[in-house]
Amino acid sequence: TKLAVIIVAAGSGERLGFGMAKAKVPVGSDPMLLHTLRTALSAKIAAQICVALPAGDTDLRALCESVDTDGDLKITTVDGGTTRAESVRAALAALDADVTAVLIQDAARPLTPVEVYHRVAQTLAAGALAVIPALPVTDTVKLVEGSTSAGIAPEKVLLTPDRAVLRSVQTPQGFDLPTLRRAYDAAAGFNAEQRAAVTDDAMLVEAAGVDVYVVMGSASSLKITGPWDLLLAEALLAGPLA
Ligand code: CTP
Ligand code: MG
Repeated sequence: TKLAVIIVAAGSGERLGFGMAKAKVPVGSDPMLLHTLRTALSAKIAAQICVALPAGDTDLRALCESVDTDGDLKITTVDGGTTRAESVRAALAALDADVTAVLIQDAARPLTPVEVYHRVAQTLAAGALAVIPALPVTDTVKLVEGSTSAGIAPEKVLLTPDRAVLRSVQTPQGFDLPTLRRAYDAAAGFNAEQRAAVTDDAMLVEAAGVDVYVVMGSASSLKITGPWDLLLAEALLAGPLA
């Protein structure tokens, strides 16, 4: 197998609220994307890294080009799209022809430990067609009726799923490449509502009837969405938890 890592970094970071692409926001002293590139590189599993950037962003392209890699490894960049899925699609189109498997990582998870990359890659190498890292859910989760957005109360509870069988899903998610391409092709005709409902790559593969396997994620692999997450990531960077 020849493995590629796609890093999706084309988001605008509205919820973080820095008024700049989230990939540029400093985590400690370096831009978020630089951390993500370093952690992806240190896993030493990729033959190619393809980064989807905000269209035309020359600063982030220069940052990708400045990263020191060993000999065979190539970092390429593509213009991302207006949704995460469109950014993945653009990167998939730019992979080397001989790539057979891919890990897709959020740039917004700068501190993913190498062990998580390894668990996903090893399970793929063992024959799984789709692998996702996840953590047990610690909050009790309710299914509510008629909810379209958070914060609109009151809502009525329909049911409480058994927490023991719920998982909170992270990235990198790993796929056999032909399987993932088929799943993305099948999603090409989605309407706006269906498109909006796509929140990870695995769900497209699930919709195609492919078995998706779950491996252990990591609390360090948190996604930086809002200001609280950035505080936590900077605390993690500053030193290991006692
Ligand atoms: N992403 C992307 N292209 C998009 C949207 C998102 O590549 N059009 C990437 C982001 O850069 C991020 C990951 O997908 O690494 C997860 O998205 P999210 O956390 O939602 O990041 P943003 O979309 O940047 O944040 P926000 O939704 O708050 O604007
Ligand atoms: Mg987003």
